[in-house]
Amino acid sequence: MKKVRKAVLPVAGLGTRVLPIAKSTPKNLLNVVDRPILSYIVAEARAAGIEHICFITGRGQEAIEHYFDRQPEIEDILRAKGKDDLLAELLGEAGRPGEMSFVRQGEPHGLGHAVWCAREVIGDEPFAVILPDMLMDANPGTLSQAIAAYEKVGGNIVVVEPCPDGQAHKYGIVALGERDGRLAPMTGMVEKPAPGTEPSNLFISGRYILQPEIFEALSAHEKGAGGEIQLTDAMARLMRSQKFHALEYDGVTYDCGDKVGLLRANVAFALKRPDLAAAAREAIEALLRA
Ligand code: G1P
Repeated sequence: MKKVRKAVLPVAGLGTRVLPIAKSTPKNLLNVVDRPILSYIVAEARAAGIEHICFITGRGQEAIEHYFDRQPEIEDILRAKGKDDLLAELLGEAGRPGEMSFVRQGEPHGLGHAVWCAREVIGDEPFAVILPDMLMDANPGTLSQAIAAYEKVGGNIVVVEPCPDGQAHKYGIVALGERDGRLAPMTGMVEKPAPGTEPSNLFISGRYILQPEIFEALSAHEKGAGGEIQLTDAMARLMRSQKFHALEYDGVTYDCGDKVGLLRANVAFALKRPDLAAAAREAIEALLRA
């Protein structure tokens, strides 16, 4: 079984749900407490043993590359001032030489097209896809849980979670065979089903382990829901010849592509930070009393 070494992070989305800030700030650089969403996502990937991260970007997103670059001017100042902890933190955020690559999507043809753009970087090995809007608080991290499932059953793994009532038409929804704990073989999947037609209440929540044959399934460039090239459709095609399992992961998801989701993430993560929890709780309680 080949090790999962690479991850694709599709970040090219325009962020229409978080306008107007997304006009000038890539949505995945919006902050949760004191760092961008992508900082948590990269940490999740690294903790799962990922050695290379391929960002699929769009125009106006150069700030993502800058964020993960070294910043010698700031590093020198922190060193001179003896702020060693902050310096170590900054150095940890930066990509190691060769760890990250940036591929332009060019045109916004959908998630399936974004993943297909990574085919030359990934080559002939299994890889992870992380949807960075979906910030997950989990221990071990969600991608680590997905890789553990992959090491157990092989094939392709799709992380799922229960869908809030009446929301299934917004997501990819899976159909499952008999469950074994949190894992179940998948028997089907559909992207954005018409209300009332969803095959289960479990939606695809943004972490995948895929075999490289997915690129062939994507190369047909068939359009699906919303006129976009959908990853779900390509997975459904690949399912005819390969095993897929759904993993209901253990943790909490914050949809940071949504204004209230981003706010919830900020509150939840601040309340979990040892250095901020007490002050954050006091401030939130005061606001709620007002
Ligand atoms: C994408 C996927 C969908 C998944 C969702 C999770 O949809 O196509 O299967 O359930 O992300 O957020 P999008 O949010 O891009 O419409």
